[in-house]
Amino acid sequence: MFLWGTATASYQIEGAVTADGRGPSIWDTFSHEPGRVREGHTGDDACDHYHRFEEDIALMSGLGVNSYRFSISWSRIQPTGAGAPTAAGLDFYDRLVDGLCARGIVPAATLFHWDLPQALQDQGGWLSRDTSARLADYAGIVAARLADRVPLWITLNEPFVHMVLGHGLGTHAPGQALLLDALPVAHHQLLGHGLAVQALRAEGARQVLITNNCTPVWAASDSEADVRAADAYDTLHNRLFNDPVLLGEYPDLSAYGVDLDVVQDGDLSAISQPLDGIGINYYNPTRISAPADPADLPFEDAGITGYPTTAFGWPVVPDGLRELLTGLAARYGDALPPVYITENGCSQPDELTPHGTVDDQARIDYLDGHIGAVRAAMNEGVDVRGYYVWSLLDNFEWSEGYTQRFGLVHVDFPTQTRTPKASYHWLRTQLTTHSEPWPTT
Ligand code: GAL
Repeated sequence: MFLWGTATASYQIEGAVTADGRGPSIWDTFSHEPGRVREGHTGDDACDHYHRFEEDIALMSGLGVNSYRFSISWSRIQPTGAGAPTAAGLDFYDRLVDGLCARGIVPAATLFHWDLPQALQDQGGWLSRDTSARLADYAGIVAARLADRVPLWITLNEPFVHMVLGHGLGTHAPGQALLLDALPVAHHQLLGHGLAVQALRAEGARQVLITNNCTPVWAASDSEADVRAADAYDTLHNRLFNDPVLLGEYPDLSAYGVDLDVVQDGDLSAISQPLDGIGINYYNPTRISAPADPADLPFEDAGITGYPTTAFGWPVVPDGLRELLTGLAARYGDALPPVYITENGCSQPDELTPHGTVDDQARIDYLDGHIGAVRAAMNEGVDVRGYYVWSLLDNFEWSEGYTQRFGLVHVDFPTQTRTPKASYHWLRTQLTTHSEPWPTT
């Protein structure tokens, strides 16, 4: 069965940040610091999904999806990131999973979608090797409770973005701007992934994935300098996170003056255990040129013009998804497990009309084009098993707060009223006639 789903993440939708013994996460801390998040928004209330999850499951059921990717808030399970779990935290996800199963919706649970317990951050966070072992402990706890009903597990969401925005540039929690000195964050997350795979399987998890966000990298010109810069970016964005997991080795980073001296014997075999699939998040390609100031980073984002853009300003390039998937298949061959598109979607300047509708034709076009690109990649031989729209609901879009709307369902945050957008109705119609991705029209 091809999995059609919607994706969300705990901090972006749950709210209820102090309910039932939940501890603070780095996103609670970060969003409350002045100037970090647009308009001072926080996830304190978000979509109040913690209290409204039944309504949200009903929306998914009405949409006709057969799967739901959500993330578990580590701080609800272990308020300080270690030690005994809280009963209330486990009970919440137990009820969510039961509600999904009752509607025939396959739960796909992500363990870590960027909301590290603050107490672990205080001990060094992902710069500390110990955090990897903590992730595995937490993985074992939640799998012991949920693996009988959750068939699909995702260890990490986008470790690249968490490294770069959270620790390299400081625009996401925990707000560190270490540039290339953030690299140990990559290794410790990946080691955490490997240890979590073992812990999940020991507790009966059937299928385990990691989700990497990948991008096709385009050199801004044929010049040697631009091609070299594009290769550097491809190495740091894509290969740094895919090679160790799929091939058991890191790409050579010596050309960039860095080396991963935190890697210890045995780490790569832990990181590269066989997976049941790989989650791929795709939003857009990246065009790279040689840096104006090579002292900073070995590449520079040259921007992409000539395509429609989302409200975020991201270029809309559906064929980039086909290019990405066929490129991964060519690069990794038999080492590439089945692929699940665990996120794809766009923010648009959605407005609720006085008639109670949201006419988001641009999102319909976006999804139609990208689903067609998945079909094109499948026709070229890529084994794709699922596609999840980011996102079910408008939600807390990290440092952009509530200003970027990605949902198939509009959320009026002051009243928490949910209104399915035109894209929701369009997708429902498509899903009644298509069991697999369709050709681009
Ligand atoms: C991804 C992330 C999601 C969501 C999305 C849209 O990088 O995993 O949480 O924010 O981007 O920006």
